[in-house]
Order: sequence, then C-alpha cells, then structure tokens
Amino acid sequence: DDYAVVFSGIQPTGTPHLGNYLGAMRQWRRLQDMAGDEDKLLFSIVDLHAITMPQDAEALRSRRREMLAALLAIGLDPKRSTLFYQSSVMQHTELMWILSCTASMGYLGRMTQYKSKLLAGNKAGDLDEAVSSRLKLGLFSYPVLQAADILVHRATHVPVGDDQKQHLEFARECVTNFNHTYDQELLVSPQTITAPSSRVMSLRDPSQKMSKSSPNVRSRILITSTPNEIRQRIMSAVTDNTNAVTYEPNDRPGVANLLELTAQCSPNPTTPADVADLLMGGTLGDLKNACAEAVTAELRGIRDRYTELLERQGGKYLVDIEAAGAEVARRNAEETMRLVRDVVGL
Ligand code: ADP
Ligand code: NA
Repeated sequence: DDYAVVFSGIQPTGTPHLGNYLGAMRQWRRLQDMAGDEDKLLFSIVDLHAITMPQDAEALRSRRREMLAALLAIGLDPKRSTLFYQSSVMQHTELMWILSCTASMGYLGRMTQYKSKLLAGNKAGDLDEAVSSRLKLGLFSYPVLQAADILVHRATHVPVGDDQKQHLEFARECVTNFNHTYDQELLVSPQTITAPSSRVMSLRDPSQKMSKSSPNVRSRILITSTPNEIRQRIMSAVTDNTNAVTYEPNDRPGVANLLELTAQCSPNPTTPADVADLLMGGTLGDLKNACAEAVTAELRGIRDRYTELLERQGGKYLVDIEAAGAEVARRNAEETMRLVRDVVGL
C-alpha cells in the first residue's frame, strides 16, 4: 500500500500560458518522470469546472481536445499518466453529491474564489440578496466537485498552485465529515504538493499574475508562442528606469519577474539572485536576451508537437487517448464508489 496516487486538474480554457506551464504542467511532467512503477498519476481536463462560467459549446469541445494535445506536447506520456475529461467519469459527480450531503455551507461560504469571480473589485464581498441571485450554485459549490475529483481517485498527493491551497484544505474537511458521519476511515486525506516555482507575473504589469483572462495578449507567452513572439514579448516587457540588473522583488517586480523566469527556465537549477549575479554589470537588455533565450529553449519543440498531435491520424489519435484514459479513470473511481455506496446504503 506504499505507493502514491497523484491527481491534478486543469480547466480547458484556452492555450496554456507560461504561468500554467511553469506553475502546474511542468511539475506534472516532473512528477511523472520521478514516479515509480507502483505510483499512479491521473491528470484531468476539468470541463465540468469550466462550465461554472459561460462557455460556447463548440469552443469548449475544441478546447478540451487542445488541452489534451497540450498535456501530451509538454511530455505527459499516456502510458504512464492517465489523461481524461472529468465529464467522462460520472463517478466524480456522483461522489460530489454524496459529499455535498455532509459538507458545511458555512465553510463553503467563507471560501474566496467564487467571491473573486463574482464580485471582482467589490471588497465588501457580502452574500446579500442581489449577489446571491447572480451567484450560480455551481460556482459556489465548485470546491465540493474539486474535492470529489481528488477523493474519488484516493489521491495521496495533489500538486496545486498556492491559489488552490484553500480548496485542498476543504477537500480534507470533506474527508473528515464523510468519515465521521459514516464512522469509517474510507476516504483518503490528500497531501498538497506546491510547485517550487514562484508565480509568473504579467509582462505588461508585473503587479498582476500572468493570466489568460488579461485582454492584453502581449502580457503573456503561450506554450505555442514562436521564438519570435517570445523574444518580442520579453524585449517589450515592462521593467523600470534603472538600467542595472539587481534582484529586488519588492522594489523592482518587473526585473525580478524576468530573473525568475530566466532561473526557472535555466537547464541547471539556479536562483534569480544567482542569475542577477551572473549578469552583474550588464544591462536590462542583456537580461531580456538571456530570458528570451532560456524561455525559448525551455519551450522548444512543444509548439510543433502540439500541432502534430492535433492532426495525427486525422484526429483519431487523440480520440483513442481520450477513450483509453476515461476507461482507466472510470475503473479507478468505481473502486472507491463501490465502497462509498456500500457505507451510505445505496
Ligand atoms: P488562469 O489564471 O490563467 O486562468 P488557471 O486558473 O486555469 O489559469 O490555472 C491553471 C493552473 O496554472 C493552476 O494550477 C494555477 O495555479 C497555475 N497558474 C495559473 N497562472 C499562473 C501564474 N501566473 N504563475 C504560476 N502558476 C499559474
Ligand atoms: Na486562476
């Protein structure tokens, strides 16, 4: 019983950017490459989470497929990692309902993500009548589905960004509530693995994280950006008026972001302070050159593999991966659900 089950999810909401890659996807690949034969890895494209916000049906369908291609293109190997669409494994939503029946409304109400999506800017953040009627139940109860995603696979380790720590805490709360209610040690409490990397900031506004929701496309680099686009975006990154290279995250966030990117994309383990030392006496132009080179090298090959995967066997290759992943994930989830139904009396 001494093996790890790694689970994580990503929403199919557009081509991943460098923040998604360094903060999540690359860590998944590293976990896969470190995993032993006994360990299980499951990575889900969480389409049911995506529909907590309005989606166009056709766009959602292609984005799921594109995210699958992206995960394969960055080096996830379907022989070692189970890749599947959340909606293909009904056990996720079944467990969600069962967890809902022992989860606390009060706890959910104190969580912040639905508030930031709903109230963007409204600091008060109170669930008054007007806000409640705009708030959809799915956005509010999203953390219960996320808990089900993890618990239905008996995950022991969940790699997440620091914005997700609160949700992992809630998943553990769901375990406690369920196991207590049914007086069984049935569900497994997952551990959080946080990415060692720091947050990637916007190239146009280093006080904001790099995000797909920013309207300014020049604020981000995509995993499919060409070397030219990467260079242009880094060369025009917002820094400051001091033309020396120093690592001062508080006073020089734009420069610090480029140093962090360079360090994270360096082939050898290094720190942003070390990169700054190496460039001592140089200009911000030198830093931008070094950064563009490191990022280009780190992303090399992904774009071509991504394009090729989407077209491989006229699309049949990805359809087959989808079906195979769903099959493995369903079997794994069903093992948990048999036990769950049994103790609940279903
Ligand atoms: P976005 O914020 O662009 O909508 P998501 O919320 O879908 O991205 O995030 C998917 C994954 O990528 C999460 O694990 C999240 O922590 C990580 N992530 C997103 N943006 C960044 C960033 N700027 N830096 C580091 N990690 C990020
Ligand atoms: Na986000």
